[in-house]
Amino acid sequence: MYIFSLFVILLLTGPARAWIPGQDKEIYAADGSNLFNNTALATNASSKRWLPSSAKIRGVNLGSMFVFEPWLAQTAWTNMGCGGLNSEFDCVSHLGQAQANSVFQAHWSSWITQSDITQMQSYGLNTIRIPVGYWMKEDLVYSDSEHFPQGGLSYLEQVCGWASDAGFYIIIDLHGAPGAQVANNSDTGQFAPSPGFYVDYQYSRAETFLSWLTNLTHTTNAFRNVGMIEIVNEPVQNADTVATMRSSYYPNAYAAIRSAESALGITASNALHVQVMNELWGSGDPKQYLTNQNFMAYDDHRYLKWSNITTSMSAYLSDSCTNNRASDGDTPTIVGEWSLSVPDDVQWTSAWDPSTQQSFYSQWFAAQVLTYEKNTNGWIFWTWKSQLGDYRWSYQDAVAAGVIPQNLSGVNASACSGY
Ligand SMILES: *[C@@H]1O[C@H](CO)[C@@H](O)[C@H](O)[C@H]1NC(C)=O
Ligand SMILES: *[C@@H]1O[C@H](CO)[C@@H](O)[C@H](O)[C@H]1NC(C)=O
Ligand SMILES: *[C@@H]1O[C@H](CO)[C@@H](O)[C@H](O)[C@H]1NC(C)=O
Ligand SMILES: *[C@@H]1O[C@H](CO)[C@@H](O)[C@H](O)[C@H]1NC(C)=O
Ligand SMILES: *[C@@H]1O[C@H](CO)[C@@H](O)[C@H](O)[C@H]1NC(C)=O
Ligand SMILES: *[C@@H]1O[C@H](CO)[C@@H](O)[C@H](O)[C@H]1NC(C)=O
Ligand SMILES: *[C@@H]1O[C@H](CO)[C@@H](O)[C@H](O)[C@H]1NC(C)=O
Repeated sequence: MYIFSLFVILLLTGPARAWIPGQDKEIYAADGSNLFNNTALATNASSKRWLPSSAKIRGVNLGSMFVFEPWLAQTAWTNMGCGGLNSEFDCVSHLGQAQANSVFQAHWSSWITQSDITQMQSYGLNTIRIPVGYWMKEDLVYSDSEHFPQGGLSYLEQVCGWASDAGFYIIIDLHGAPGAQVANNSDTGQFAPSPGFYVDYQYSRAETFLSWLTNLTHTTNAFRNVGMIEIVNEPVQNADTVATMRSSYYPNAYAAIRSAESALGITASNALHVQVMNELWGSGDPKQYLTNQNFMAYDDHRYLKWSNITTSMSAYLSDSCTNNRASDGDTPTIVGEWSLSVPDDVQWTSAWDPSTQQSFYSQWFAAQVLTYEKNTNGWIFWTWKSQLGDYRWSYQDAVAAGVIPQNLSGVNASACSGY
């Protein structure tokens, strides 16, 4: 704690010059060219480094890679011996550590390969967001009571290396927080009956994780294009329940990242963006206690499937064409999760059938892309790949179905005309 507060004081009173925007950390494509033209940013004090200036973020999530969500990949889950189990925690506890390590490592080596990265690049994507759990730092796991697969770090390094080589911007997201940030959801890595994250000792474990990850990001070549770390994905949508997350965890996690950078002598031009969920998410104002907001970024998740928008195609298009996802004033914002899925009760009816309604889904995709690129710094689709046989949850399948163009420059620029 002492070192954190010392650092906060330094930031407030200390070498302000280090925080005046200077030259951007550059992001290189495979051919050595600068992927994002940040020359304009370099002289523009109102811009943030480490974000594309001439390009928007156009990305996909690596869902079910390091935080397995069984609903997305039932076949793989069953083949791993985890059938019927809710989460990674439950599966590891069932299989035992050694067998679990073996099946998870087989999963990490096959779910996303270098050819996936190559394919994403050929589609004009420039960003990946990688959900991870705190258990990737294995000494944080309580060996007597917590059960998670081991050996993930080298696969994270491998996929980041491929993505860096291909010139991608990379966001690493703490998707599975210590104790679980929401109840009964496999996307935290455990199916916890209550959210156990919101206490000091769990915050402290998460801060240790972030400090470790920050150090790795700045010292490992494969991580050279990691430009953003999200400090917790989708906390409980109740401002009171998560009050200490905003007042304690957010500033301390921010300080942990900056402190790790300071220890390495990282200058402002190489500082990571620190991302939190935006105010629209519903966990309160993320900035409320953040006295230092240098290189912050905000994450918006937009699933009309779970919204209160009238379930009609015209209402969906109208909302997607007009709803400004940066309207809460949090900036820069990236729409870090969204899909083409519609409410469960209608999704397989003939009116919404993906095998006959491609023209709607294609227009809706375009409408979302146009609006997110107009109002925010870009978007990241959930997710790249699934075994659902439903392109509404898979970018790769949607391209194969002709719903998403093979080259994003083919998105219909008139998709919102009339809305
Ligand atoms: C990059 O941006 C600068 C400043 O706006 C501009 O002068 C330059 O031509 C741009 N370079 C490329 C390759 O687009
Ligand atoms: C500086 O960046 C901001 C935000 O991206 C932009 O609105 C503004 O036009 C830029 N100013 C100049 C002089 O490029
Ligand atoms: C996409 O199309 C644009 C415009 O035709 C072209 O400049 C670009 O090279 C294409 N991108 C890829 C990855 O093929
Ligand atoms: C989670 O599920 C358990 C068991 O079904 C239930 O008792 C508990 O209330 C649920 N928790 C929440 C927050 O919904
Ligand atoms: C930072 O990471 C490097 C390896 O990338 C490691 O050698 C070093 O011990 C780490 N430092 C800290 C403080 O964890
Ligand atoms: C829909 O939800 C938004 C917040 O997400 C709220 O502002 C709005 O009032 C709600 N509309 C209806 C009709 O419930
Ligand atoms: C683009 O969208 C507009 C508005 O929906 C539509 O009229 C037009 O036919 C579309 N163009 C293509 C090439 O699909």
